[in-house]
Amino acid sequence: MPGRRGLSFRSGPVANPVTWRAVAGLLEDVFEIDATVLDQFGGPDPTGVSFAWFDAAGTCIANISAFDLPLVMDGAVVHAAGLQSGAVRPSHRGRGLYRDVMEAALAHCDAEGFEAVVLLTDTPELYARYRFEPLAQHRFAGAAPTGGRALPVRRLEVGRKADAALLRRLLDGRRPVSDRFAPLRQTEMFLFNALLMPDLRLDLMDEDTVIAWQAGQDGGFDLLDIVGGEIPDLADILASLRIAPARVLVHFAPDRLAWAGKAVAGTGDMVLMLRTKRGLRPAKPFALPPTAEF
Ligand SMILES: CC(C)(COP(=O)(O)OP(=O)(O)OC[C@H]1O[C@@H](n2cnc3c(N)ncnc32)[C@H](O)[C@@H]1OP(=O)(O)O)[C@@H](O)C(=O)NCCC(=O)NCCS
Repeated sequence: MPGRRGLSFRSGPVANPVTWRAVAGLLEDVFEIDATVLDQFGGPDPTGVSFAWFDAAGTCIANISAFDLPLVMDGAVVHAAGLQSGAVRPSHRGRGLYRDVMEAALAHCDAEGFEAVVLLTDTPELYARYRFEPLAQHRFAGAAPTGGRALPVRRLEVGRKADAALLRRLLDGRRPVSDRFAPLRQTEMFLFNALLMPDLRLDLMDEDTVIAWQAGQDGGFDLLDIVGGEIPDLADILASLRIAPARVLVHFAPDRLAWAGKAVAGTGDMVLMLRTKRGLRPAKPFALPPTAEF
């Protein structure tokens, strides 16, 4: 690592209280995001490792964090890492600090034997030099299936302690929502995203499966994620929620829903990028569920 006058480079667990405060301060100042809301759920992802430059006062000047993001891709488990919280304070940009932390994080991922590294960005050109390639994402649109079985349902609130504890338990033991592409574990980011999505509904179906969904303004049904040991059929989900929507949009590959929608390209401004040695990429259309974004 090259020397940087007045700065020191450190890497270590994101969950270390001093590191967590400093990295959260950087995210607050650069993105106006309060990552410390995660403290109510027990803190950040325990697998997170920060690669960062600090000034003499302990202020985090530049950071990128790597965390375990095990994935299922085309039915196989992929030992993947995610990169998040990448930023440099405006006062220190253009001097190579981001390159330093990216190179350190990628060297770590390679040394730890990760088969793939994944990130989400609105500036994909920044990552091509590190061999990241963009992956197209799709949503799946179609008509609502009927004739499902209605099971009991109750609404959960992520801000309520008992509901958050139940959610965490189900998240830790979940089955991937799709066989084509889905995280095996993404507990902290699900809880964080759920807090930040005010119109997200979390309905507990049959006491063991959470349906994460939104009601579209046009009478449609947007299915964002399913958290449970089994993935129910879409027809059973709609019957249990007692809704007959005008249309359905599923935000992940629906291969486990006993329903087929038309794949529609594009999921917004953020580009999903993947870096692998073996040229791994999902064979069929897919998307990272919005609740798993990081
Ligand atoms: C993007 C950001 C981290 C870059 O920080 P920086 O300190 O300017 O980066 P560096 O000086 O280390 O530049 C590394 C390289 O990236 C290039 N680069 C920097 N910003 C870029 C951009 N927006 N698009 C494309 N390339 C960019 C630089 O030219 C440099 O190239 P070089 O190695 O060939 O000289 C910083 O501008 C930032 O924090 N922006 C706001 C938050 C953000 O966008 N984070 C990334 C989210 S995925």
